[in-house]
Parts: sequence; C-alpha cells; structure tokens
Amino acid sequence: TAKKGRTLYVCNNCGGQSPKWSGRCADCGAWNSIEQVVQPPKTASRTGAAGYAGAAAQAEAATVHRLAEVAPEHEVRRSCGIAELDRVLGGGLVQGSVVLIGGDPGIGKSTLLLQASAAIDASPEFAAARGAVLYVTGEESPEQVSLRAQRLGLAPGKLNLVAETCIEQILATAAAETPRVLVIDSIQTLFTEALTSAPGSVSQVRETAAQLVRYAKLTDTTVFLVGHVTKEGALAGPRVLEHMVDTVLYFEGEAGNAHRLVRAVKNRFGAVNELGVFAMTDRGLRQVSNPSAIFLSRHSEAAPGSIVLVTREGTRPMLVEVQALVDQSPLANPRRLAVGLEQNRLAMLLAVLHRHGGIAMFDQDVFVNVVGGVRVTETAADLAVLLAVLSSHRDRALPVDLAVFGEVGLAGEIRPVASGPDRLREAAKHGFKQAIVPKGNVPKGGVEGLQIRAVLSLREAVDAL
Ligand code: TYD
Ligand code: MG
Repeated sequence: TAKKGRTLYVCNNCGGQSPKWSGRCADCGAWNSIEQVVQPPKTASRTGAAGYAGAAAQAEAATVHRLAEVAPEHEVRRSCGIAELDRVLGGGLVQGSVVLIGGDPGIGKSTLLLQASAAIDASPEFAAARGAVLYVTGEESPEQVSLRAQRLGLAPGKLNLVAETCIEQILATAAAETPRVLVIDSIQTLFTEALTSAPGSVSQVRETAAQLVRYAKLTDTTVFLVGHVTKEGALAGPRVLEHMVDTVLYFEGEAGNAHRLVRAVKNRFGAVNELGVFAMTDRGLRQVSNPSAIFLSRHSEAAPGSIVLVTREGTRPMLVEVQALVDQSPLANPRRLAVGLEQNRLAMLLAVLHRHGGIAMFDQDVFVNVVGGVRVTETAADLAVLLAVLSSHRDRALPVDLAVFGEVGLAGEIRPVASGPDRLREAAKHGFKQAIVPKGNVPKGGVEGLQIRAVLSLREAVDAL
C-alpha cells in the first residue's frame, strides 16, 4: 500500500523547518515566509536490523570500495581567463563543479559572469565547436544581454544565450548543446514543472539547484549559479544551496565605492577566504592584481589616528589603512564603532589597553575604520587598531613608512600571526621602511630595506612608538 508523504513547513527565508504552519518563522522571525513542502514517503517502516534486512531484499546493495584501491579523481582545471576569478576559485574552473555566486542585486554578478563567459569562449583551453558556454538568462532578454556585452566591449564570438526559466527546458537545451560551462543567471528565477510554488521559493530553488548539480556531475560540466542575497544578508531562501554546491563565492562592495571583492566562503577545491579584487568601471569589471596599491590611497602627510596594517586575505598579504578617531564623549556610555572590523574585538582591545597599557578610554568615543570598504576578520589587526587608537588619543601622527600587524592577547602579550615573513616582504615591496611586529614573526635574516621592531608585549609596542 502506498503511504502518504509527510507534510513539512519550510521557511523561505532561512530554510528552517517546522511540523506546522505559522505566520512567522520561529527561527529567523520573518513573516509570511513559511511554505508547505511534501516529503516523499518513507519506504521501510520497521526499524533495526530486521527493517534493514527487509529493505535490503527490495534494493540491491551498493558496492563497497576500499579507499586504497580507489584511484583519486583526476581534477581537471582550466583558467577562465580572468585571473582574479581563477584565484578565488582556487586556481581555475574545475570540471563538473558547481559554483554559487551570491551578492546584492546590482553589485555586478551578471557583469562578471558575462565577462568570464566571453573570456572562456575565446580561450583555446575550452575550444568547442558550438561554443563552450551556455548563458541562461532568466532576468534579462537576449537583447539586453547583447547590449551589455557591447557596452563591455566583448567580442560576441560563439557565446550561446538562452532566455528560459523552466529547468526541464534548460537541461534539455544543455543536453543538446553540450556546453563546457553553464551559467544560470539567476537561480531564483528558475522553476520546475513538478512543483506549484513560485520561482524563488525555497522548494523551487532547492529542486532546480539539485537538478543542476546532478547535471553538472553527470556531464562534467562546470555550472555557475547566480544567487541574489536578501536584505538580511542570507541568500534569498536558499541557505540550503550553500551545502549543495562545491564552491560559494560572495560578491561584496559598498555603494559609492567602485571596488568589488569576490570572496570564497566555501571551496571544495581550494582555500576559503581567498579574495578576488575588482573595480567597477564604465566598461565593466577590471581586475585589480595589486590590491595593496588601491586600499592604501593615503595622504602623503602623516595624520594622527592612521596606521597601515599588513593583513592577509586567503594566500595573499595586503596592505590596508586603519583609521581611528578618539574624542571626548558627551555620553554616559561612550560610543564604540568599528567599520570593517569586529565591534566586540574593539571593546576587548580597549580593555587590554586600559589594563596593560594604563590608558583609559571610558570617557572617550572610539571610532575605528578600515579604509576602502575592506573587511578584516583576522586577529592580526589587533595591534594596528590599538596603535591607531593611541595615535588619535594623543593626537600624534605615526610615521608614514610604518607598517604593523600582530594579535593582542588578554594578558597584554603580542602574539605572532600566520605568514609573518610574507607580510613583512609585502610591506617592504611597497616601500615601507619600518615595522612593529610580534617577535615570533621576524625571519632570521630580517627583511631587506625594513627596520623591524620585534615586540612581545603591548608596553613594548607603545614604547616603540
Ligand atoms: P549587474 O552585473 O547587473 O549586477 P547583478 O547581476 O549583481 O544584479 O551590475 C549592474 C551594475 O553595475 C549597475 O549598477 C551598473 C553597473 N555597471 C557599470 O558600472 N559598468 C558596466 O560596464 C556595467 C555593465 C554595469
Ligand atoms: Mg544580474
């Protein structure tokens, strides 16, 4: 006898599940986001070994492999023609992988993928008789895409376009065209005929993405999925998408700032937190291969509260300017504001500064900012933040040719961070002459052209200034 499927309610916003419907999601608090999903019936109702034996009678046992006897999969990688995108992907496109590119509407996802598609199509590595890329546009008409390509100055070449949103038709087209790379712009516009819910709902996004993942694996096609991010910062609905795909890239950038950062937050084939840097121009996205140069747009004069931090994004050291403003506060609870840094970390650092540096900030507003819209998440920024705060507090400018990094511990100790020598070399490369860094980060022979002060404690760092 056929069993009825189980009914489940899923939140369109966060993907949270509950057994009954409600107007408001208990997990994320979104209103009117709960949608009914019917789960396929379970086949085996008995549990335990007897249940498994019963199920085994109906299904064939899967093959068991011994790891030692399995030859590792040959990972086929090809450059997509845009070096910064190759970098975040971990060194190029992997055949059969699925890459999700998330970001706010209007940040440049379609632009990047159109540029990449043209580059792939033109690349001899991807040579294919009928065009290497199939670009599926669900948001714009072919004419609009063509206009954009013209504006970007792209050679149209053999690039194939389809304006379609039905997944069954898209996969049928792909199966006929056999592209090496399939671009879906965007996953939220797709729907499957098997479901009645609207495109963009959790069940549609999940089902269409699952079909695309299956297609990618079966045909060794690289699939790019564009996903819009909601105001709350989650990929609309599909948190679920993140673990279905191999690689998740996020497009970041601020309004009024031309720089665009593409960050890998998950990558089955490379390092996470790798960063690709672009600038949006009137002719599309331009690669920034030397990001230190742009994030370091400093005045030539020294200003109080400003310091240069050598941070690291993925495998690449990068110089950024950290600014602090410390000002007498009229408030009972002075303000603490960190832009591009962690707010709680700032509060902790100020406590360390008080306790181990003897400098109190409890009647001062403290604002800290990383210039250029960069977000620094690593603790190596600690020392730079404290020295910037101190510099502003004392209204004394630090030398312009000084670069710092280092983690500050709760006991006031300065701890070494990863890739110290790389960071020092990056600073020297950009003409910095002095550095204050943790003792454990100084290479034996020093670094040419750089006068390095190795410090063990916050007091030593303050004295070094
Ligand atoms: P788009 O790629 O359409 O964003 P998404 O697909 O992420 O929604 O980017 C559109 C924005 O980029 C739009 O605000 C205009 C700007 N833009 C340029 O500045 N220069 C260009 O050459 C192009 C094509 C777009
Ligand atoms: Mg778009």
